[in-house]
Amino acid sequence: MQEANGLKFSDYIGASERKASPTALPAWHAVTQHAQRLRSRRVSDLFNEQPDRFSELSLVHDGLLADFSKQLIDRDALSALHTLAQQSALDTAITAFFGGDTVNFTEARPALHMAMRHTCPPPEADAAAVRDTDRRMRAFAAALRSGQYTGACGRPFKRIINIGIGGSDLGPRMAVEALASRAQPDVRFVASIDPDDLAQALDGADADTTLFIISSKSFATAETLANATAARHWLRTQLGAQADLRPHLVAVSNAVAAATDFGVAPERIFALPDWVGGRYSVWSAIGLPVLMAIGEGAFDEFLAGARAMDTHFCDAPINANLPVSMALVGLWNINFLAIDSLALLPYAHGLRSLPAWLQQLDMESNGKHCLRDGSASQVATAPIVWGGAGTIGQHAFHQLFYQGTRTVALDFIAFADTRDPQRAALLQNALAQSAALMQGRDLDAARRSLLAKGVDANTVEHLAPHLVCAGNQPSTTIIAPQLTPYRLGQLMALYEHKVFVQGWIWGVNSFDQYGVELGKEMARALASQGADTPDPSTAGLLSAAASMRDSAQHQP
Ligand code: F6P
Repeated sequence: MQEANGLKFSDYIGASERKASPTALPAWHAVTQHAQRLRSRRVSDLFNEQPDRFSELSLVHDGLLADFSKQLIDRDALSALHTLAQQSALDTAITAFFGGDTVNFTEARPALHMAMRHTCPPPEADAAAVRDTDRRMRAFAAALRSGQYTGACGRPFKRIINIGIGGSDLGPRMAVEALASRAQPDVRFVASIDPDDLAQALDGADADTTLFIISSKSFATAETLANATAARHWLRTQLGAQADLRPHLVAVSNAVAAATDFGVAPERIFALPDWVGGRYSVWSAIGLPVLMAIGEGAFDEFLAGARAMDTHFCDAPINANLPVSMALVGLWNINFLAIDSLALLPYAHGLRSLPAWLQQLDMESNGKHCLRDGSASQVATAPIVWGGAGTIGQHAFHQLFYQGTRTVALDFIAFADTRDPQRAALLQNALAQSAALMQGRDLDAARRSLLAKGVDANTVEHLAPHLVCAGNQPSTTIIAPQLTPYRLGQLMALYEHKVFVQGWIWGVNSFDQYGVELGKEMARALASQGADTPDPSTAGLLSAAASMRDSAQHQP
């Protein structure tokens, strides 16, 4: 990547005369003009005018293909976006990020999850501790997988239950789902404070062979502590008052003292450095359930995939850089075409939790308005992320893409793995959806299709408008050879860095999450007896719930 100017990372932080808002950059205006030129165009027409669109607007790197040609963008607009990235000093930001600068400046620390996949070194002061945790967690997972590590009654563990929420759940859950469908031991995840979640994970479990991983960076999260306490109680009830529960309890945390106080033996506490953010933590000891499910070799491949994406992100020029391109196309949709919804459509059962993972990654990282200089953003930031696995969504929410009133940006993720007809159908469906959603069906085509089916002319006139699909839904398609640990690592790091680039250009701190604290404070206040209720609606709801509870026994 080219150097933008001689400024250091620290020159971009705080209320200096350097404005954080990207709208102050000259290229912002240039990109706006491209958007005015393209806004009312149809992507299918652009294909007719630019036969080389696919090769011009798709990138291949290390087996991963990202096709942006179905986006409402062209080479000139993309090139203006590249200039925008350069003017934002993205190169300085990336160097600072990988160099361990305080990119998480509101919490005064770096964000160095890339060190956990060995792309860059950890802070020197922590290097020995990081190595030690890594060695211990690998040895522990290997002993557990081989049956050498046993429970209180000397039997090998068959069921592992990870108790955690947010980043201490979503990343490892997705990786286990994606990579370990037939895993031994059986690895399950409990996140919700609803006791039914834990009850379901315990269904059919034998306490002698059940291990709990209490996964919480802070070891202070209400849901996790409630579930961990319930799990400990279950162990006590099942194994008896005299049993040593400690072989059944593991903790992954930055708050080692709190985990010890909870009753976890020090040798089974795996520390998570404070410079690894929760939503970026699957690469650290938070990945322990993944390591247990897939083993060390596959876990190393997972890290290697992410590391390869890190290297590409740092080294590739802007116009050949996958995460930067994803970020810029996203920015284009959000800020210049006013498309604030991003649907993630992985065509793989193993990736069914990818949208939930990306929701936290994208929305908790960049769902912010306060900029580096303390001013409020004048433009939209994180998209509203949602989605679901293909082809399931095709029979549900895709209708809105076809005939609704909104434009939704779509990320199709598919695999070239067609080793059996059903897997081949997944790829075909992904490609068919992106093509149909681009082309749409106009009134004439609707009429023709009805007439071809033998519908009488009168009915055709009434019915045809209901068959019209506007098309022009912008999409990116990512294709990888197969869903392997390496490919999953690549894909996750791709999205992580997309989020980083967008956050940097918008001028927000992608690594804090002060907003979510407000809701936690309110929950604590409502739980405390005699506290003032915050508003009449909440007071009314609390009292209605209390009377429902009182009369519940008389209701069906
Ligand atoms: O409430 C938000 C959050 O802090 C996330 O950022 C984090 O991933 C999640 O809660 C869980 O936190 P912890 O790992 O500390 O339990």
